[in-house]
Amino acid sequence: MKGNFIYSNPTKIYFGDDAQTNLATALAAFGKKVLLVYGGGSIKRNGIYDDVMKALADARKEVVELAGVMPNPTLDKLHEGCDVARRNDVDFILAVGGGSVIDYAKGVSVATWYDGDAWDNFWVQQHDPAADARIIPVGAVLTMAGTGSEMNGGSVITNTAAKMKLTKAFSDRVMPRFAIMNPRYTFSLPTYQLAAGIYDTFSHIMEQYFSGDDDSTSDYLAEGLMRSVIASSRVAVKDPKDYEARSNLMWSATWALNTLIGKGKRQDWMPHMIGKGISALTDATHGMTLSGIAVAYYRHIMPYGLPRFARFARNVWDIHCDGLSETQQAEAGIDALAAWIREIGAATDIASLGVTPDLIPAIADATILNGGGYKSLDRDDVVSILLASLPTN
Ligand code: NZQ
Ligand code: ZN
Repeated sequence: MKGNFIYSNPTKIYFGDDAQTNLATALAAFGKKVLLVYGGGSIKRNGIYDDVMKALADARKEVVELAGVMPNPTLDKLHEGCDVARRNDVDFILAVGGGSVIDYAKGVSVATWYDGDAWDNFWVQQHDPAADARIIPVGAVLTMAGTGSEMNGGSVITNTAAKMKLTKAFSDRVMPRFAIMNPRYTFSLPTYQLAAGIYDTFSHIMEQYFSGDDDSTSDYLAEGLMRSVIASSRVAVKDPKDYEARSNLMWSATWALNTLIGKGKRQDWMPHMIGKGISALTDATHGMTLSGIAVAYYRHIMPYGLPRFARFARNVWDIHCDGLSETQQAEAGIDALAAWIREIGAATDIASLGVTPDLIPAIADATILNGGGYKSLDRDDVVSILLASLPTN
């Protein structure tokens, strides 16, 4: 490891098929008035809402409900949530859902009492709340594995008017104080969301792995996580009610993006930048935007990081490389990735997400160029990758 870093993570995790029995205790440390934030209603159909309401009653909380947080939560919805939180002067926010709901809760946490343009300050200018700023603590009950939002400071908000989807990674104060993680809660996920979450997890790991050339513990951790995701995904897509596979996927997703495996490393994140550009224009499902461009993206940058791509083939996909050149090894690894994307049912192109050739310039404009991993992309590179991500026929 060559890089210097600080690591801390304040989120307390309650994990397992009885995790929700800890919710009342976890809530006890916080104030009386709880803003219960959730999405489009899946929690009412699968029973999670009832579990949560019981815990809130056991903890003698007063509950204000805020429903209807959409996938890819919008700035307009954030403003609505801040109004509700302010009017009711809530003490705590309990987010029950996937990444969209938890990200949104963090947004309400920082924006409710911010006296200014929260979008501009936090998401555009990337400031953190002042040390003495009033923020509302957040807790999470996770219902979908993928984003890692349950144990990180990320909050991704879409400004539909500006056609911008931006991430702010907040510091420790804004991260969930606790997360309840019951893998059984993910059993009711539609197969499309299961595949999207699996690929999102994998992409998070790859985007920290494909950079650097030193001998780094972080990369060995990344390889182990990728192997676990591949093995568990193969079981879960065939039998979505396999508890062990779902628990591995849930825990891997958390560790894929709670900052640990990026420590000491420069990181890539260009697939996420392009994926957010796609969602900003199409509202497509996050994980699918990443799988839809993955093969084109990695073929594009492969020549700039050949040894790492060859290592990916050997150590992640167990490809026997005797007699193969480094380039052939690297290509075999990307072929294995492409086959696995098909196998788990994730998007293999971006046309299926609503991207048409005429949208590509606007997506490229909405894509932030961050310097990347092995290759620093410019706008032309992004356009080429998007074009190569359209089906060939
Ligand atoms: O709206 P509800 O009813 O909750 O339904 C959701 C939604 O329709 C459904 N769902 C979730 N759990 C379910 C369920 N349906 C049945 N049973 C369950 N147990 O699944 C759909 C998708 O949910 P969503 O929360 O949007 O998915 P995900 O967890 O993938 O979150 C995506 C958002 O997170 C952001 C993405 O950009 C996107 O906005 N990300 C957040 C990150 C972070 N905080 O660090 C990093 C990621 O890279 C990502 O950018
Ligand atoms: Zn992601």
